[in-house]
This record gives sequence, C-alpha cells and structure tokens, in this order.
Amino acid sequence: MTITKDFIKPMTWQGDSIKLLNQQKLPGEIEFIFLTTIEQVWESIHSLKVRGAPAIGITAAYGLALWGLQSDYTSEEDFRKELLEKVNYLVSSRPTAVNLYWALNRLVQSVQAVHGVEEIKSVLVNEAILIQQEDEQTCRAIGEYGFSLFPESATVLTHCNTGGIATSKYGTALGAFYIAKEKGAELSVYATETRPVLQGARLTAWELQQAGVDVTLITDNMAAHVLQSKNVDAVIVGADRIAANGDTANKIGTLGLAHLAKAFNIPFYVAAPFSTIDLAIQDGREIPIEERSSEEITHIAGTRVAPENVNVYNPAFDVTPNELITAIITEKGIVKGNYAEELKRVKELV
Ligand code: MRU
Repeated sequence: MTITKDFIKPMTWQGDSIKLLNQQKLPGEIEFIFLTTIEQVWESIHSLKVRGAPAIGITAAYGLALWGLQSDYTSEEDFRKELLEKVNYLVSSRPTAVNLYWALNRLVQSVQAVHGVEEIKSVLVNEAILIQQEDEQTCRAIGEYGFSLFPESATVLTHCNTGGIATSKYGTALGAFYIAKEKGAELSVYATETRPVLQGARLTAWELQQAGVDVTLITDNMAAHVLQSKNVDAVIVGADRIAANGDTANKIGTLGLAHLAKAFNIPFYVAAPFSTIDLAIQDGREIPIEERSSEEITHIAGTRVAPENVNVYNPAFDVTPNELITAIITEKGIVKGNYAEELKRVKELV
C-alpha cells in the first residue's frame, strides 16, 4: 500500500505568492492561505501557521525569494545589501530551529557567483524550490532509517509533530511511521498532546489517523505511566537544532521523555536532517531557546484557565544532552557513539 498520494503539501511556490497550509486551523479546518509579502511570511512563521523546523526553513526561503522578485533595485550592490537584511529579519521570526538560517544562508550562497539583479532573483527562486524538493527525499531517507530501528509489531511513543506538514513531505520521526505503513508493518503509536499549543493532539493525531496509522493520544503527564506499563519499544522525536556534540533542542517536554526512556531502559531516538545539525556550536548551552507568549499557557482555545496576572514561564524548547540519546537518525544514516566525531564524519558522506 502506498500512502504518498494522501499527503497534503504544506507549502507551494505559486510564482508570485506562497500557498500555505494554515496549521493553526487544524484539525477542524483545512485552510490554505496565500502569502504575498515577506512580512506575511514572518508573521506566519512567528504565529505557528507554519511550524516544524524543516517547514519553516522552506517557507522562509520562499519568503526571501518572494521579496527578491518584488524588489525594484537596479543596483546589484544595493540588492545584495538588503538581501542580507531580509535574511536577518526572517531569522528573527523564530530563534531555535537552525533550519531557518540554514535555508536562507543556502539562498545567499547560491547567488554568490551570479551577476545581474534579474539573474540573481531567478536563482533565488530556483534554489528555494530545490530546497523543498530535496527535503522530500531527505525525509524519505530518514523515515527508512528510522523504521529499520523498530522491532516487529513495535509500539513507539512520539512527541510534538514531526510529520509531513512539519517538513515538505513524510516528516522526520513520523516518516518512520509512514514507511512502516507503506511496508504493511504492524505499528502502534502513542502521541503526547504536547502542551502548550497541542501539536501532538491537533496535528500528529490527525496526520496519523489520516494515514491509517494506529495512534493513541495521551496527555504529556501520562508518558511515565505509559512507558512503564505499555511495553513501549522506542521513543522517537524530531529536533530543532542539534549541536556538534549531539545535544538536541526539541519541543519542550523532550528532555523529560529522554530521562524517562533511560529510567525504563527504552531506546530514545532523535530523527533529523543535516539541515538541523549546527556544527558551528559545540554543545547545547549555545542553543537559543525561544520563549513564547504567556497566553499560550494561561488560555486554552481562547478561554482563560489561569488567574489574571499570574507569572508565566513559557520556553518552547528544551535541550536533551547527548548521553540520553541512543541514536540520531539522519538522511545519511544512523549516527551513534561519539557524536562529535560521528556527526562530522557522516556529514561528509555523499
Ligand atoms: O514549535 P514547533 O511546533 O515548531 O516545534 C516543532 C518541534 O519541536 C519538532 O519536533 C521539530 O521542529 C522537528 S519537525 C520535523
């Protein structure tokens, strides 16, 4: 059975706009919006209309290309100067996932040796399209490697949403579940709801249900009980930024799951493309952690559930130290052991 035809394309380049699946409306409504300015792209990333590390990278790349097309510079020097300013502007929409910077920097590099404003504009567009196309193949490979780690009839727990809509297709950690489905393998998934903004309940449960994957939704605070009592074979999560030593920033709550997995002797896997691996930083202490608005915690679906004026702390991500990670699943293979050495070595593989 193949499920590829059922994937919703989360973002599509339209030539003069970006067609974007509005993830804020899921699962109640499948709404597509059309972004026609770089400001709308910034806002869509910041407000989580599009979220998930690879997906925000691809969308930002299209946003930069869109700005380029709309600009009326005739001087190449002025165009390049503002291009770099727009990169910084888009990067400021969300600080933790390095894919954003990676994709924008790739566009900048792609035009280094290109001359003429019109030619540069067209190369920017083509490079953004290429990033999206490559991400699809990358996620497929991650899914295959991830699936290879599961025992027969596996029961797996995942956190947040790392699926097709968080990437260009398939997803990272969820990619392994889609591959399992394609191969007809039996697989059961526990998905944590992922407070505060419920990516697990709204997005992962919906995505897996659509694909016919056996998924059971739990609240975040049920994870210890489930790992203790439900014969879970593995925990698999995505990543927003992985430092050179393997320390991994991912959705808040991941660190707790990693400790629980260790306590119950369950393998803990991180699935991510190399665009998420930041070899420029040595360890997790250097990863900037985004703090989001207090309303995400004081309100649920627009209704206040906490007292007025209560102090709120809302970090969107946490950092799992490398020693809690059994393996990092990349598009180039499964990395384990000494991450500082192995990540560098595997990155060089063609
Ligand atoms: O705040 P979000 O929803 O963008 O956080 C997403 C995650 O933490 C994902 O696990 C990560 O980006 C990997 S997506 C393939």
